[in-house]
Amino acid sequence: MQPVSSIAGPIFWYEDIGLVFAALTSSSLPTPTPSSSLLLLSAKFSSLRFEELVDPAMVFIRSVSLLSKLCSRRVQLSSLYGSVRWLQIQSGSELDLHSQLKDLIPEQQERLKKLKAEHGKVQLGNITADMVIGGMRGMIGLLWETSLLDPDEGIRFRGLSIPECQKVLPTAIPGGEPLPEGLLWLLLTGKVPNKEQVHALSKELQSRATVPDHVYKAIDSLPETAHPMTQFATGVMALQVQSEFQKAYDKGIPKSKFWEPTYEDSLNLIAQVPIVACYVYRRIYKDGDIIPADGSLDYGANFSHMLGFDSSKMQELMRLYVTIHSDHEGGNVSAHTAHLVASALSDPYLSFAAALNGLAGPLHGLANQEVLLWIKSVVEECGENITTEQLKDYVWKTLNSGKVVPGFGHGVLRKTDPRYMCQREFALKHLPDDPLFQLVSKLYEVVPPILTQLGKVKNPWPNVDAHSGVLLNHFGLTEARYFTVLFGVSRSIGICSQLIWDRALGLPLERPKSVTMEWLENYCKKAT
Ligand SMILES: CC(C)(COP(=O)(O)OP(=O)(O)OC[C@H]1O[C@@H](n2cnc3c(N)ncnc32)[C@H](O)[C@@H]1OP(=O)(O)O)[C@@H](O)C(=O)NCCC(=O)NCCS
Repeated sequence: MQPVSSIAGPIFWYEDIGLVFAALTSSSLPTPTPSSSLLLLSAKFSSLRFEELVDPAMVFIRSVSLLSKLCSRRVQLSSLYGSVRWLQIQSGSELDLHSQLKDLIPEQQERLKKLKAEHGKVQLGNITADMVIGGMRGMIGLLWETSLLDPDEGIRFRGLSIPECQKVLPTAIPGGEPLPEGLLWLLLTGKVPNKEQVHALSKELQSRATVPDHVYKAIDSLPETAHPMTQFATGVMALQVQSEFQKAYDKGIPKSKFWEPTYEDSLNLIAQVPIVACYVYRRIYKDGDIIPADGSLDYGANFSHMLGFDSSKMQELMRLYVTIHSDHEGGNVSAHTAHLVASALSDPYLSFAAALNGLAGPLHGLANQEVLLWIKSVVEECGENITTEQLKDYVWKTLNSGKVVPGFGHGVLRKTDPRYMCQREFALKHLPDDPLFQLVSKLYEVVPPILTQLGKVKNPWPNVDAHSGVLLNHFGLTEARYFTVLFGVSRSIGICSQLIWDRALGLPLERPKSVTMEWLENYCKKAT
């Protein structure tokens, strides 16, 4: 048998193992070609007892366990494209997320130390004056472990695309949408959890989901007319008084242990934000008739329940919604804000509240509100049976009035956002005849050629926000002003996962250099 370290093409060998697992659990996956991994596997099977070999269940269990162990040894291999494939299906005995992280953190600390020592001086690109003036587009400047955004392929969570996540993450119903708790596990550990692990994490989050009274009072002190994001961010700020990180820091906790109270704060925050968010919703739109949590439900379904929607399709939508909005690498406004604020050792509540204030901007998270309002204004003016020509005229009217077409374009993406595509697939499956969905589909045809015609838009294709509103609207969540709060709840999962790693890896205070126009003018004159 070849020793593991000498197998040629170890990356593909490793990924094949992931596919073997997925193939064992999902018939819809492509057939793997696990050449050397199967070789190794068959050699290992020769050590099984005869009665184990003839019992298919035993063979399956032993193969899962064996592959899991093999994968464990391969968790940090880089692919040819520089991304890391950590795909691993785990055995049911490893239910404690905290102790898994405790095992992983020293490996990753060593990895970063080695990277810095061996390659710290390698150049990653040139900085141009355009980049400094243009919002740092394309400038690599952040370490963000939980996800990576490819301009053409879209987001990958720990190396997994959205369709891959939909295939391998545990679901509440067969063939259903991924459970957000599973994604949280994946983002934190880089490993695909099994059902038991996701269930255990679900229960753990429930056990942390108690919101102190003063939080409600803080929200109540605002007028009901305050924007839902203002009320939500106020609630998150009020949660901060319970920060474990702040208490531990005040007591002089050593730097090597920073991640532990950050973990506590992060899980508490992720568990509690749906309650705060639902309080805001019910306060503004349902006369303050609050619905308590249902301990029998998973994170997404319970969120839907506390908002007041108990249909199984809406529960599925919330699972999908929370999963796909959770993380979009580190440079977007909300993620970057949290990372920056946390680099000052502000705790996760302070950092996440800051992120929410960025998310509330119309060029970022508020776009989902803007899209539904804009679509409804189209219908109001032109009716539901709008022709393509009328729609084109409306798009031009919006542009000529100096506004952007909400839901289209992106700072990094250069193709249709896969988060848009999976919502489209959800709509095709569950609400194909919804008139607003049909309008969204028509916009997909009409808007990109017009934006291209403008000549300056780098990405004319729809983004995540172009679709979410009509899905929520279909199931009765019609209050567009509230939509960004849903986005915020979801973002807690990605942002907090990375904040734990920020502290575990000992990332320093963020402090980029700024310059004045005069400095730029003088520097550029000398350089040319
Ligand atoms: C997302 C967004 C802010 C990205 O901005 P960006 O990185 O500066 O995008 P670009 O480099 O393509 O912008 C170049 C120009 O095209 C314009 N543009 C980009 N998207 C546009 C849109 N959807 N409608 C009209 N104009 C648009 C920009 O406003 C900019 O114009 P300017 O030079 O006159 O200021 C931008 O596409 C946008 O405003 N989209 C609509 C809002 C939205 O959907 N936001 C959610 C993002 S997930």
